[in-house]
Amino acid sequence: MREGCFPDEELVQWLPMPLAQLYRRAHNAKTALERHNTAFFLWEASLVRPSLGGRGCRTLATRSDIKGAAMNHAMRLSVVLFVVALFGLAAPAGDDKTPTWKPFLPPDDFPDLTKRSLERIRTLAKDDGSANALRGEALILAGYTMSANVKDVASAAGLRRKAIKVATLAAKKETADEARKLAADLAMVKLDAKGKGDAKTKTDPKGGATIDWPAAIGDIADIMTPLASKAKGGEGIHADLQYTTKLKMQNGTEALLIALSAKQLTAANAKKMARELEIVGYRVATIGALTRRRGPHKNKEDAKVWDEQSVIMRDSGIDLAVAAEKKDAASIFAASRKLVGTCVLCHDAFK
Ligand code: HEC
Repeated sequence: MREGCFPDEELVQWLPMPLAQLYRRAHNAKTALERHNTAFFLWEASLVRPSLGGRGCRTLATRSDIKGAAMNHAMRLSVVLFVVALFGLAAPAGDDKTPTWKPFLPPDDFPDLTKRSLERIRTLAKDDGSANALRGEALILAGYTMSANVKDVASAAGLRRKAIKVATLAAKKETADEARKLAADLAMVKLDAKGKGDAKTKTDPKGGATIDWPAAIGDIADIMTPLASKAKGGEGIHADLQYTTKLKMQNGTEALLIALSAKQLTAANAKKMARELEIVGYRVATIGALTRRRGPHKNKEDAKVWDEQSVIMRDSGIDLAVAAEKKDAASIFAASRKLVGTCVLCHDAFK
């Protein structure tokens, strides 16, 4: 760290997670170039507070910059909204008050996504310290069944019903063991290549309409945590996606998105990462769709912002998946930038 220039812990506390990381990284940067690049990206990623760049400790804000920037919530939010409009991040004006599900998962990808999810559920069900992670994965599985354009709606509905039950039971200590038993049972479900289950899997497809989603999803942290680094309880990223030494260490989706948004992938990496990145895109999109259904618990007066940001998360996740499948490095870059923008904006307003 540079002399006379200490990281401001107060600022670090106040910054949303990826920004806090970048801020620390800028402070710990060894070379001028690294410091400049990180600070530039910090400035870019912050979007809402351009005042953080270029002053104070040359590349970072001083405490007085931050005091000046410590606006009240309403004012910060209006700045956020202004920047959202400025950067064209705003969602297309939608007038639907009850969020609907968008069937964005291609029928070809639904079976693979579901199989991976069931595998993770099988592993988590064995561990009595993983109730929250089990809950998160069960909810993501339920999210897949609502986001897929599946032909066999009865199997999807059966999976969903069990998944929601696992999530509900895992939310309470008293029923956590029961949740693990049911999860082990759920993980036994076998799907064919088209996502079809056997007779036992099927249930009345209309069941999805009666789910109280905000209640079933409950604590939003459980569906967000999979995106954190493995050390912080995240699910980690596939080896194909660990394209830098730093990412190998960080091993998380959030860190991956930050790396992807900082510099466009090479064509060779885009090719190598295609399938696993496509999976990440659809997972992030599904988490966005679930986030939208949950709605805010805090700052409820800003529900519109929550809705817009979760729609951007969902749709940019879809963009990422589609771009990854096409091995289109420029579009991967663009989608990742939008994603990081929405993580930062939403955390700033609601976390
Ligand atoms: C619509 C709002 C919203 C969006 C968009 C959003 N988040 Fe979150 N996120 C939250 C909230 C609220 C929390 C705080 C949860 C808590 O701790 O109660 C959170 C928490 C987190 C956490 C910490 C979870 C934990 O263990 O406490 C991670 C990691 C995370 N988000 C990753 C992301 C990433 C990556 C993106 C973008 C791709 C993103 N989030 C987009 C609302 C959002």
